[in-house]
Amino acid sequence: MSTIQPILESAIQLFPQLDSARLEAEVLLSHVLRVKRSYLYTWPHCLLTAHQISQFQALCQRRLQGEPIAYLIGHKEFWSLELQVTPATLIPRPETELLVEQALARLPIQSDAQVVDLGTGSGAIALAIARERPRCRVLATDNAPEALVIAQQNAQHLGLHQVQFQVSDWWQALDQVNAAVVVSNPPYIAITDPHLTQGDVRYEPRHALISGKDGLAAIRLLITQSLVHLEPKGWLLLEHGYNQAAAVKKLLTRQGYAMITTYPDLAGQPRVTGGQKP
Ligand SMILES: C[S@@+](CC[C@H](N)C(=O)[O-])C[C@H]1O[C@@H](n2cnc3c(N)ncnc32)[C@H](O)[C@@H]1O
Repeated sequence: MSTIQPILESAIQLFPQLDSARLEAEVLLSHVLRVKRSYLYTWPHCLLTAHQISQFQALCQRRLQGEPIAYLIGHKEFWSLELQVTPATLIPRPETELLVEQALARLPIQSDAQVVDLGTGSGAIALAIARERPRCRVLATDNAPEALVIAQQNAQHLGLHQVQFQVSDWWQALDQVNAAVVVSNPPYIAITDPHLTQGDVRYEPRHALISGKDGLAAIRLLITQSLVHLEPKGWLLLEHGYNQAAAVKKLLTRQGYAMITTYPDLAGQPRVTGGQKP
């Protein structure tokens, strides 16, 4: 038997390499106890059961091996939405909120426009747009059915019933769909990129991350195919790697898009580029 405080302190010692050791230990322990983090400090002398201690220690060991904390606790916050995530989905990143902001900037508050999120994963982008623009018709697609199941559960849980889901290889199963705004955070890492062997991405689905030799295979395809489905004056908004903005702009220009602009994320990195169908 032990209480919260010593268990937490000993776990923090396990993660000396992590700046966020205390936060991570708190998140894992509050997940096991099914309480808010503040509970740990309000009730530091609360006794834990042997089962709770072993559950917590097992999670700490997995974290120590490098498993992302979002997979260990099964959820991640994005745009103030609590989203379920599993190893079938990418873990939504804060920088992707920029894509949501740019989509919303093109959708008046009462808009009932058709929006398509290609490669929705956990549903992060589609659900954030649906939350902010409740009259929009939002279609979320992915070619990974197991990811789409999670996205649908997230929509259900958040009561965002206006979002439709469709398994599709990019635009392939979407013949009849035209859209005013198309958003995508596609895979954009080159297969040889050394970052693939570091941090959280080691545990994320490879097909959600990698896109050919230069990381641009999916983006090339989306830029070409979306022209067929965009309404006149419709927008294509793409997230990309910090060093891909020039290449993405060039691809959009070659296909005849107008008003091509790149937007920086909170870290100042060029992260989203958009273009308008003439
Ligand atoms: C970088 S993840 C983005 C997930 C989510 N939109 C987000 O921002 O958190 C890319 C997504 O594209 C999906 N994807 C990869 N190839 C695809 C394809 N050919 N057609 C449709 N979706 C694809 C992956 O399954 C994955 O969910």
